[in-house]
Amino acid sequence: MLEIKDLTVYYESAIAVNDVSIRVEDGEIIGLFGSNSAGKSTLLNTISGLLLERGKKELRRGGERITIFGDILLDGVKINNLRPWDRIRMGIVLCPERRRLFPEMTVKENLLVGAYLRRDLDEINNDLEFILDVFPRLRERLDQEAGFLSGGEQQMVAIGRSLMAKPRYLLLDEPLLGLAPVLQIELLKAIKKLREVKGMSILIAEQYVLPTIHIIDKGYVIETGVISVSGTREELLENPQIKTAYLGM
Ligand SMILES: Nc1ncnc2c1ncn2[C@@H]1O[C@H](COP(=O)(O)OP(=O)(O)OP(=O)(O)O)[C@@H](O)[C@H]1O
Ligand SMILES: [Mg+2]
Repeated sequence: MLEIKDLTVYYESAIAVNDVSIRVEDGEIIGLFGSNSAGKSTLLNTISGLLLERGKKELRRGGERITIFGDILLDGVKINNLRPWDRIRMGIVLCPERRRLFPEMTVKENLLVGAYLRRDLDEINNDLEFILDVFPRLRERLDQEAGFLSGGEQQMVAIGRSLMAKPRYLLLDEPLLGLAPVLQIELLKAIKKLREVKGMSILIAEQYVLPTIHIIDKGYVIETGVISVSGTREELLENPQIKTAYLGM
């Protein structure tokens, strides 16, 4: 289980995540819903270790002060102070907002970057095959430069790259951003398949609540850094605040 306990994150003196607690149990798909600037990326970046408190030495060289309170626990063990690559090795893998591909590298090269920390060559090839089964569009485009792909295809590459790191917990930061509605549905189906086939746990941060809510087990709403609502999919679908603010009912 991945557990976020009373997590608070400041950029300088501005609070971005305020006393947030979240649990992701094995095999669950968890939604983290919130509009612009709600704190979704800050939360995901802190869980993956991209956002770490800087030491005094680093601060003297410039850069903003980041202060983090609270705990991130993997199977009950604190991982707060681990570097991002150690968290990846433990199975916590982030697919960042806006994809961050290497546009001049091919699709295949982008995918293989995700396996950088792995040494199990046979399994790497199996995983590549699995990804191409989940995203068949990528098979035809393996040798094309990633920068020339459509937005939807680029998002598939970004998720594929994260899968190549062999996640136990996959953190998706706004995977639906910039995609046409039909593609959003296609991508959500693929995400659901990851859980069904691999038993992966998935934490998905999204502004597009309506299509996403149908694939989650439980969800949280974050507003200006604070969790305002949480519950099972059914509870969220019945919640009046969510109906009006996020589902347009
Ligand atoms: N590097 C930074 N320095 C200072 N403030 C920041 C920094 N990054 C984000 N913030 C602020 O922290 C708050 C949360 O931002 P965050 O990017 O986590 O939100 P978000 O939910 O991911 O938004 P979006 O949907 O736009 O991606 C915002 O008020 C934002 O302006
Ligand atoms: Mg964000």
